[in-house]
Amino acid sequence: MSVPDPAFDRRAAALLRAAANDLKRDDTTAEADLGLAPGTFAGLTSGEQPVDLALLGRAAEVWPLNERDLLPGHDDTSRRVRIMRAKESEASSRVLARGGDDYYEYRDTAMSRVASYRPEWIRMLQPVDDNDADNPAVRWNRGHLLYQFTYFVGPVNYYYRWQDRSVCVPMETGDSVWGLPFAPHSFTARSTDEPAYILALTYGGDLVGDAQRELAILGNAAAHQAKLTPEGGPAALLRSFLQARAVTVEELARRTGLSAEHLAVLVDGDRQPTGTERAQLAEALGISERDLLPPSTGTDGGVVVQRSATAHRWHYPADSPAYRFTQLAGDASHPHTTALETEVLARSAEDTAWLSTYQHSYLYVLGDQPVRLLWEADGERHEEELQPGDSAYLMPEVPLSFVRTDPEAPPAQVLLLRIAGAVLPEVRHALGAMPEGGIERYVNEDRLWYSKEGN
Ligand SMILES: [Fe+2]
Repeated sequence: MSVPDPAFDRRAAALLRAAANDLKRDDTTAEADLGLAPGTFAGLTSGEQPVDLALLGRAAEVWPLNERDLLPGHDDTSRRVRIMRAKESEASSRVLARGGDDYYEYRDTAMSRVASYRPEWIRMLQPVDDNDADNPAVRWNRGHLLYQFTYFVGPVNYYYRWQDRSVCVPMETGDSVWGLPFAPHSFTARSTDEPAYILALTYGGDLVGDAQRELAILGNAAAHQAKLTPEGGPAALLRSFLQARAVTVEELARRTGLSAEHLAVLVDGDRQPTGTERAQLAEALGISERDLLPPSTGTDGGVVVQRSATAHRWHYPADSPAYRFTQLAGDASHPHTTALETEVLARSAEDTAWLSTYQHSYLYVLGDQPVRLLWEADGERHEEELQPGDSAYLMPEVPLSFVRTDPEAPPAQVLLLRIAGAVLPEVRHALGAMPEGGIERYVNEDRLWYSKEGN
């Protein structure tokens, strides 16, 4: 909070007002709690007076909240975009050794405090001459928290381990893989004559942030009890709602008209409910049908491998296409993640197509052709030329488009990875359910929750 940032201060002011409202404190009682001079709270919650760390510490001491609850996020974008040039990435280069040998060269690419991406360009420094997962030259990691989408360039061997099974997958340019947290993996090069590197686009999504902090306090046993496994299926969800509602099988039978014997089979998971039964169960429990449906997943050994050769390819828009997309690795358990290889066909800003999404967007310029990035922020159009190796982050709902810089040159190639942040459907539905003016106050609480005049 040392560099002046009025927008940050305004967000801090709004959080302080929101927290005081939640605790049913007006200005006078908040001042008394926080040891502030009478008449000063209004200045803090209007943003006239900056909220400092000492005040946050005091609030976290006397109120049942955390310093973090009163700390807003930093916006490090410019016009809703953050661009990292290839030479800035090169300047971040560091070589890390494993077992005494140089193993990877890492380079940062575009990151922002607004999104959970930690995307790295990584070059494989360890050559191998076989595709054996037990090759001693392969130095495994211990796995890591973040989800990992990986795009392969050149003759890279990918290794992954799940339970006790170790697998080597020889990859080619354009292949990709999506992987779950904490699965050990590694990468080597099958050749020293050609470039062998990956774009390792890791991200935390909703696993980092509040959920992790909550479970760190609740502890291991609670986390194990909270987990829902693919094997648990719909029955595990049904059982957890019966517990949550303190409803017996007999009471559920009374409410649904299904027999207690049949319900016991469903609760044990020996049979899955039919669509009609699921609707009856949802109604009886006062929940939505979707709450009784576990996510699908296509992971095998914790990963989904997508070969370039067998990937879906399509033109966008279908008539007079501006792009040719290739769908890269992803999983149904992460419906809000989209990975696309984008061939830019558009030759001018007039014949390009605008892309917009609720997701955060990351892009990296592949190949050897530059590309023009156009985007709109707060009603204005902006443009930057991106060179191969340049990367960028764009906020959700920022319309963007690409155009070739040279209409005669081959199409430019851009890797796009879109992810959700914390604004998942639950939150989006809640925003949609707010009365008029509610969203504005949620984003930036600017008032006491009642009027002193009593109207
Ligand atoms: Fe990794």
